Amino acid sequence: MSKTVPTAVSEQEVQQQLAYIDRIAAYNRDFEQQNGRKPKAYTQTFGCQQNEADTERIVGMLHEMGYEKTEQTENADVLIYNTCAVREHAESRALGNIGALSHLKKERPEITIGLCGCMVQQEHIPEKIRKSYPQVNLLFGTHMLWKFPELMYRRVVKNEKKVFDISGDAKGAIAEGLPVERNKGARAWLSIMYGCNNFCTYCIVPYVRGRERSRSPEDIENELRELVKQGYKDITLLGQNVNSYGKDLGIEIDFSDLLRRLNDVEGDFQLRFMTSHPKDASRKLFDTMAECDKIAKQLHLPFQSGSDAVLKRMNRGYTAEHYRELIAYARSKMPEITLSSDIIVGFPDESEEDFEKTLELVKEIGFDVLYTFLYSKRSGTPAAEYPDSTTKEQKQKRFERLLKAQDECVLPKQNAYMGKTLRVLVDGNSKDSEYPYTARTEGGLLVCCNGDNIKIGEFATVTIDKTSLRCLFARQ
Ligand code: 5AD
Ligand code: SF4
Repeated sequence: MSKTVPTAVSEQEVQQQLAYIDRIAAYNRDFEQQNGRKPKAYTQTFGCQQNEADTERIVGMLHEMGYEKTEQTENADVLIYNTCAVREHAESRALGNIGALSHLKKERPEITIGLCGCMVQQEHIPEKIRKSYPQVNLLFGTHMLWKFPELMYRRVVKNEKKVFDISGDAKGAIAEGLPVERNKGARAWLSIMYGCNNFCTYCIVPYVRGRERSRSPEDIENELRELVKQGYKDITLLGQNVNSYGKDLGIEIDFSDLLRRLNDVEGDFQLRFMTSHPKDASRKLFDTMAECDKIAKQLHLPFQSGSDAVLKRMNRGYTAEHYRELIAYARSKMPEITLSSDIIVGFPDESEEDFEKTLELVKEIGFDVLYTFLYSKRSGTPAAEYPDSTTKEQKQKRFERLLKAQDECVLPKQNAYMGKTLRVLVDGNSKDSEYPYTARTEGGLLVCCNGDNIKIGEFATVTIDKTSLRCLFARQ
């Protein structure tokens, strides 16, 4: 199969960016000679796994440019904030952090403060930053990530005061072959596609991340092989809506076919994926999951609301009944599957009856993990214009009721693990001296564990001997 990705960045363009990295590295070697230290870079990420994966690219590029990592803003020469726009809260936190840097910029005007990610890609933001955050030197949207070396070159080597570039083709572009530095450990993200075509009426993502673009299966498989070679044992395939993988490629491949292909890669590892959309999740997908031994039996399938009327106004493209059927089918094929979901409370004009239907669905399905959000108005989305007679207090009350229902639903599921023996992937240290390691079950549940033969980065077989709402505890 040939590379058919229509929006791929050409190899020549990637080479150009790599050349900018080299030039910055040379500049930074001079910096080191003059200052007796390497320049330092600080990065902070807001939002979802896609943003974390993007930051790993930025960190990889910064590393190649000769920057040393720092955890402190005070001694950083370059500070990059990768922002989120999904809810207002994430935006205010990012802007709050940038605001707090103004004193640092006054003391050390030579530093570079950069903002990137989804928040930046919104139309009104560059002007706002220009006006109210003069300390920001570098601004680039999600489509320009691959041009980071060139933008850094203009700022750092050419000493341009402000390098703002959020143009980018809204269709976005996929660049292969740029550096990436992943967090050490057993888990890795692997982006299989970017963007979203769904336009759920509350969601800003399609506006800031553009249309769906799938990476070629060859590029994905090669990256997976490389990750497995490097020792990663738990790899999460990422996309806003992985179930529509391949639709833009013009070749005969869908997400299930991709999973099967990746499942054939040799090695001791497991694959998981997120996020799925109930509109596009198929029986074929669940059959594939059940048949492929390397695919973790975990499903994150956001339903957002249990009310058909609300789902319609959200433009989700399915009914609560369809969701129920999907879960029933998935469970019939994989009775042990771990289920999680996202829910939005307080969508414009959500009635008490609508909310009750959400509660009902939560209780009926019995999720292992739930992510619940209060609706946040995003300017530019259709729902921002919808009338809303529900008060803030009503929404808050519903949110609290949902949290309670969530705990009531999760606790018995957690308790049911008592005494079970499971294979887990150990991935770090915990704060609990009795259970000093953290691990994840195949279904992605958090386990704190103890045992003589436990090694970080390796699988271990453990028996659950204590449970709680958010964590299982186990010994070898
Ligand atoms: N307000 C609240 N929650 C939102 N999400 C997306 N947009 C909004 C919004 N405007 C939630 C959805 C999605 C998750 C990633 O974030 O539940 O699945
Ligand atoms: Fe947003 Fe809907 Fe796309 Fe998910 S599927 S990113 S909620 S528009």
